Amino acid sequence: MIIVIDGPAGSGKSTTAKKLAESLGINFLDSGALYRAVTLAWLNSGKPDTDKFINNLTDLSIDAGEVDGKFTVWLNGKNVSEEIRTSRVADSVSEIASIPEVRNFVNKIMHKVVEKDNYIADGRDLGTAVFKDADLKFFMDATMEERARRRHNELLEKGTDITYDEVYQNLLKRDHTDSNRKADPLRKADDAIKIDTTGKTFDEQVSLMASIIKDRLKI
Ligand code: DC
Repeated sequence: MIIVIDGPAGSGKSTTAKKLAESLGINFLDSGALYRAVTLAWLNSGKPDTDKFINNLTDLSIDAGEVDGKFTVWLNGKNVSEEIRTSRVADSVSEIASIPEVRNFVNKIMHKVVEKDNYIADGRDLGTAVFKDADLKFFMDATMEERARRRHNELLEKGTDITYDEVYQNLLKRDHTDSNRKADPLRKADDAIKIDTTGKTFDEQVSLMASIIKDRLKI
């Protein structure tokens, strides 16, 4: 079984998907983390031009799984789960994720991961491109201001020195690139259920979505 949640950056997809996975007793897959790992590989290899990077993509080993209840990503055997959250990676990830060959590469990893078990996954194009036949699809959204405020608070809690304005500009830029790229842009699948989280508390949005899942999938 696969449940997907798509939506723009900072809409609360990952934290909600994690919480839902925990309460339903299924696994969580963070597809953005895989794009971030590819981006980290690109940065670490000295930002080669696109053709050169694509030619060597299959040499990359990217794995995902759970360690102590936390979604974990390995790049060439190294746990990079923290490193992929830095603004160095966030600033380039949309650009790297817009390369069709990178999308094919990440999609293959995702299919391999989910074939083994039940998953709830979050991303941008899961309902429209990667898992078109998903058992249930959600599209989460919130106003730009609310998304920037949430992401800023998250980063401050982690001790990152960043202003609200910098977070706002990064989200604005990423939304634009994610929604306007040619390959599988961010958009709501026709059969996805839209959840607007503006003004909702975390618990409210989780319980709303949990009740939809229970009702639709009888679990
Ligand atoms: O969810 P996130 O912010 O960690 O995602 C990082 C980037 O990866 C995001 O800016 C766009 C890209 N992405 C994508 O293109 N398709 C997905 N399914 C997930 C993420």
